[in-house]
Amino acid sequence: MEAIELLRTRRSVVVRNLSGPGPSKDELNSIIEAGLRVPDHGKIGPWRIQIITEKGQKKLGDIFSKAFKKEHGDRATDPMIEFEKNRPSRAPCLLVITSNIIVPHKIPEMEQKLSGGALCMNILNAAHALGYSAQWLTEWVSYNVDIKVALGHDPSVDIIGMIYIGTPLEQPQQRERPSIDTVVSEWSG
Ligand SMILES: Cc1cc2nc3c(=O)[nH]c(=O)nc-3n(C[C@H](O)[C@H](O)[C@H](O)COP(=O)(O)O)c2cc1C
Repeated sequence: MEAIELLRTRRSVVVRNLSGPGPSKDELNSIIEAGLRVPDHGKIGPWRIQIITEKGQKKLGDIFSKAFKKEHGDRATDPMIEFEKNRPSRAPCLLVITSNIIVPHKIPEMEQKLSGGALCMNILNAAHALGYSAQWLTEWVSYNVDIKVALGHDPSVDIIGMIYIGTPLEQPQQRERPSIDTVVSEWSG
């Protein structure tokens, strides 16, 4: 497919519809390389990528369920806890992307954060280009301090994406997008 067609037609596939196979090691490297080819004002590199291995996905499931129980106490039912245990393993490949900004810095905080968002977007497009599908999620788990710390991050670091990658079980319907004239205007002074 032409690159422009690929970009114009990419869609996320919801994680429950992502199955195996996931990208091979080499393919994942290509996806990450594409991710890293991102505008980064001041060459700060204000982002990090963690590849959660299969073993890591299982361990992370234990961490999610423990944090869930801590947050919800007696309201956490067995099926809910089971769902949390399985949450990181819903797709064959999971990447955790963090925004590791430097503050104060002459490059504004917003620009450093946006670079992380662009990295996530490049990862989605690269996965799509290799024939995989992906979903960029945060969910409650990205905002939980115990989970951040268990993943080795300082609480001040933002988890900006948990990107799940796999093979789509079914192709999604196209999602309605804003028409160009509702969001684009011309300005000539
Ligand atoms: C930063 C960020 C976080 C997101 N977190 C979630 C989430 O937690 N749960 C969810 O259902 N969708 C979340 N989404 C939305 C999905 O990734 C995606 O936009 C949606 O499934 C439609 O995808 P598409 O427009 O790429 O086809 C998030 C999107 C972004 C940009």
